[in-house]
This record gives sequence, structure tokens and C-alpha cells, in this order.
Amino acid sequence: MQAIVDQELCTGCELCAQSCPEVFTMNSIGKAEAMTGAVPATYEASCREAAENCPVEAICIK
Ligand code: F3S
Repeated sequence: MQAIVDQELCTGCELCAQSCPEVFTMNSIGKAEAMTGAVPATYEASCREAAENCPVEAICIK
């Protein structure tokens, strides 16, 4: 499983970085970025939840 943040859609609300900091971090321009590569199994549930809770649906899970 991999997470990708659409930089165009992300408004920088920081919800994902707060609820799942192991996967999502805020970059220098105030947008979220997902870790590169596969999300470790331990964080899959919280990562999915963060994607569902993003107010602008900027997080894509593959
Ligand atoms: Fe951006 Fe959505 Fe996270 S708006 S900061 S990707 S919760």
C-alpha cells in the first residue's frame, strides 16, 4: 500500500500529519507529503483513516 498527496488539492490543514505522523509530514510550502515507498503494515489503518478524513480528498491510496 502506498499513499500519495495531490499537491494541487492539499490545503495544508495538517489533519493527516496530526493523525498519522508516521506517514504524513508537512513540507516547506505547507502541504502534506506522504512517505515514499510502501506504508508499513502497522500504519496502514491510520493512513487509510487519514485519507478518508482529508477534507479535500487530496490523499490517494494505492
Ligand atoms: Fe492536506 Fe488533506 Fe492532509 S488537506 S494536510 S492532505 S488532511
